[in-house]
Amino acid sequence: MRYRLSPSILAADFTKLGEEIRKTEEAGAEYLHIDVMDGWFVPSISFGQPLVTSIRQGSRQFFDVHLMVQDPERYIGDFAKAGADGITVHAEACRHLDRVLSQIHEAGCRAGVALNPATPLSVLDYVYQKTDMVLIMTVNPGFGGQKLIPEMFGKIRTLRQRLDELHLETDIEVDGGVNRDTIVPLLEAGTNVCVAGSAVFRGDIGQNVRVLNGVLRD
Ligand code: DX5
Ligand code: ZN
Repeated sequence: MRYRLSPSILAADFTKLGEEIRKTEEAGAEYLHIDVMDGWFVPSISFGQPLVTSIRQGSRQFFDVHLMVQDPERYIGDFAKAGADGITVHAEACRHLDRVLSQIHEAGCRAGVALNPATPLSVLDYVYQKTDMVLIMTVNPGFGGQKLIPEMFGKIRTLRQRLDELHLETDIEVDGGVNRDTIVPLLEAGTNVCVAGSAVFRGDIGQNVRVLNGVLRD
């Protein structure tokens, strides 16, 4: 299992976005988490495909695009074209989740399914074979800087057991409230891709990436 840190640019200083992304890459972050919010599925609006096209020029990281967007099938092609490597959609936002996952693969990207804290794992039962990554939201999506919901540890543990039973090496990503204190128990529960916004972009970015990555490599 490969362990990766995925810094979330939602917490970056947008006046120097390119520079801050470069710092995460230079410090060893292989992924970059890109939170797209539509003001409908979640209350906030963040940014869209033009921003992805523009930051693609300056980074070789794996672009881990998290679509917090209602009916995301409308945008899969656009984000793939903009430079996404992986596209994650919310099960709650898709009328036809199975079809959307095929669409992501057809666009040449890895397919992820995100689950809000209250959404049961059973929604994955018939799409496990088409899912490269499950994103367990450890906060209610929409804002950075929230506290992790402790009930999610059990959800992650149950999911890893289920994947093991199915002999699948699907990635489990966590998003929300990941920091130096929560990262170890999250890994122990079965996570292997950790999104971190505030814990990376507040303070010394390079140092934060090295510390969190150090935990992942231990
Ligand atoms: C929440 C977003 C997260 C957010 C995480 O809706 O999906 O990616 O940026 O922020 P932190 O790490 O600050 O909780
Ligand atoms: Zn996210």
